Amino acid sequence: MPGARRAGRTLQETLALNSPLETSPRASTAGAATQTGTSAPTPAASALSASLNPRRAAELNEIFADNGLLARQIDGYRSRASQIEMSRAVAAAMEASGRAMPEPAMFEAQKRPARRLQTGGADAAGEAAEADEAQALDGGENTLIVEAGTGTGKTYAYLVPAMLWGGKVIVSTGTKHLQDQLFQRDIPTVRDALAVPVSVAMLKGRANYLCHYYLQRTADNGRLPSRQETSYLQDIVRFAKITRTGDKAELASVPETAAVWSMVTSTRENCLGQECPHYKDCFVMQARREAQQADIVVVNHHLFFADIMLRDTGMAELLPTANTIIFDEAHQLPETATLFFGETLSTAQFLELARDSVAEGLGHARDAVDWVKLGSTLERAARDVRLAFKEDSVRLSIGQLPDDHPLFAALEALETELDALESALAGQAERAESIGACLRRARELQAVLAGWTTPPTELERQSVDTAPAGTTEGKGERADPNEKVRWIEVFAHTVQLHETPLSVAPIFAKQRAGVPRAWIFTSATLSVRGDFTHYAAQMGLNAKRSMTLPSPFDYPSQGLLYVPRNLPQPSSPMFTDAVFDAALPAIEASGGGVFMLCTTLRAVDRISARLRDVIEARGWNYPLLVQGDASRTELLDRFRAYGNAILVGSQSFWEGVDVRGDALSLVVIDKLPFAPPDDPVLSARLDALTKKGLSPFAVHQLPQAVITLKQGAGRLIRAETDRGVLMICDTRLVDKPYGRRIWQSLPPFRRTREIEVVREFFEESGNVTQQAGVD
Ligand SMILES: Nc1ncnc2c1ncn2[C@@H]1O[C@H](COP(=O)(O)OP(=O)(O)OP(=O)(O)O)[C@@H](O)[C@H]1O
Ligand code: SF4
Ligand SMILES: [Mg+2]
Repeated sequence: MPGARRAGRTLQETLALNSPLETSPRASTAGAATQTGTSAPTPAASALSASLNPRRAAELNEIFADNGLLARQIDGYRSRASQIEMSRAVAAAMEASGRAMPEPAMFEAQKRPARRLQTGGADAAGEAAEADEAQALDGGENTLIVEAGTGTGKTYAYLVPAMLWGGKVIVSTGTKHLQDQLFQRDIPTVRDALAVPVSVAMLKGRANYLCHYYLQRTADNGRLPSRQETSYLQDIVRFAKITRTGDKAELASVPETAAVWSMVTSTRENCLGQECPHYKDCFVMQARREAQQADIVVVNHHLFFADIMLRDTGMAELLPTANTIIFDEAHQLPETATLFFGETLSTAQFLELARDSVAEGLGHARDAVDWVKLGSTLERAARDVRLAFKEDSVRLSIGQLPDDHPLFAALEALETELDALESALAGQAERAESIGACLRRARELQAVLAGWTTPPTELERQSVDTAPAGTTEGKGERADPNEKVRWIEVFAHTVQLHETPLSVAPIFAKQRAGVPRAWIFTSATLSVRGDFTHYAAQMGLNAKRSMTLPSPFDYPSQGLLYVPRNLPQPSSPMFTDAVFDAALPAIEASGGGVFMLCTTLRAVDRISARLRDVIEARGWNYPLLVQGDASRTELLDRFRAYGNAILVGSQSFWEGVDVRGDALSLVVIDKLPFAPPDDPVLSARLDALTKKGLSPFAVHQLPQAVITLKQGAGRLIRAETDRGVLMICDTRLVDKPYGRRIWQSLPPFRRTREIEVVREFFEESGNVTQQAGVD
């Protein structure tokens, strides 16, 4: 829902798009009505939190006050109206879910966190009996979609009520890096501020934990592809003896990409579970146990959805016990859920099965079968599937393959070899549990592979099935639950076969149905100018349960949007170089503290190479950090520590990253981040929309690009004292009719097309004089 619109001229009135992109600070606030300055939350937003028990509302006011518990713990703390409003709405959703619970369960849920606030908790329990249960049970009041601008402080806004009244809470965020940020920084800060005795655990995917069984097997076998990997293995063996968690992130000396990791970690398929001799000391099991016992569990979206589907890493047991589920960076959910609500088959699974069957067969049934031969023929057949493609790193929809494509023959041959291994395993399964486990895996692979040995149907040739009649614009992307797309991803050594549903809404809605718990979806970027239809339709949520809160920042004076003139079109081969040439004077004016965010890895390479040359030639002292040179966490730590570094990275740096102050004063974005249309799932989605008579660009691509761009822009202003320039080098923002819709969705920065204005802005900030080495 849109925020209060300020009186006065609209953006269109103040600004002819073809004229210089420049306005006075005052005039620039109207377009992005959802992100205006320091105003109070809108009446509609407040309605969602109005039902909150007054005692709890008062408690939150005190905690978030200028002299409250948080202020005592956090440097530069200021009371922010939006943050308080969001915390109230989150608490109200928790209360609603409490009302819907059977009484003993509700008591359990509120017992622990209400310890500090006994009166509030008791009152709520009393009122619960009179509450209208039916309404709360419909998945209505206990669900909240809340959008509040980047840097507003959403993390504290949900952590405070979560720690006080959330019961058992699962917080899911976008990446492992953000999981660490929450676990190591934000949660301890709030816990100390409130002085509440909550226990916290972090749960990552199984592949993050060392596996004793496979570590021992690999160490015993002693065959590794290179000397380097052998030395990594030695590090890992030493690490295994001293680590408490077995989390591979703790062993910095072995890169995340080292091949040896796959040999010393387990997969869902090859884990021996209770039959494992190491079961008692198993790190995966230990992480699960800790998650079971903790009050707050921090996970990531990949794990959350992978586990709903595969029931592997303990979420399946965790979920039923949770009273509150909070999705931060919730704009990523549709994409992530799509990945997991489908089915994926990788040729790597056949290679792993061959490897494990040979090892276990030789270990327990050496004389019965020629395991090595069976394993190597299966391996060869799996590799032949990869050889059916000449291309590398491509994604293809199955409809693009002709009937006689070599893939189909290769899959048939793979099926034959898999059948042979399966019967050998079946004959020996009695002799060892580990052989029985291989047999189960072989049978699962057989079942999935059977769906792939046939060439595409006529329907698939036309991309996707048509949508049911009666789908309207208002429903946005709601698709037939049965609409699926089969597609293929070719990597350097493996091939993945995917079957992906076009809409996750019905599956996700089913997961949420019938269980009275609070669901919070939050992010800076869920709506397009206050309209949540797109997001709600994708996730199967009710768009009416949504709110947008205004930003606490004075964007017109804190930020400047700069779109340089005379740049070529992004499709031009000269584009990346032109971006670099245009960015250079802005970088120089900034005095360092720059994110250069590129939409392709090729642009990252090109820009970082040219920057390196310029830095050397001009004797600049700006440290250059490039994505890929170190882990993301490491790069960001260095960026914060240097204070005047230049970081060149791709989209993965855009989201959730928190750098306050002068360390970041210029964000350069090369082009508008439209997803490449060669993605088979995207192109199938777009086709489906066209067939429904909708404009795929307006309904899907544009909103997605707006969300991604807002995330990039949001890195800049994180505190009332931050100042910075957002430079977007894509003139479609000004030249194309849809450009207006995009920049109106950005924070209402002052705007310019002149580098002179950028220089003046930085001079006002005093940045240039602070930096040495600028020529
Ligand atoms: N009331 C406050 N006063 C001052 N600083 C605050 C306040 N609340 C949060 N902060 C700080 O502001 C920064 C941004 O907070 P946070 O990371 O929660 O933002 P966010 O709303 O999640 O933004 P994004 O959408 O970009 O993730 C953090 O460094 C946080 O410590
Ligand atoms: S139980 Fe599974 S993950 Fe744990 S040590 Fe055994 S095989 Fe590895
Ligand atoms: Mg955040």
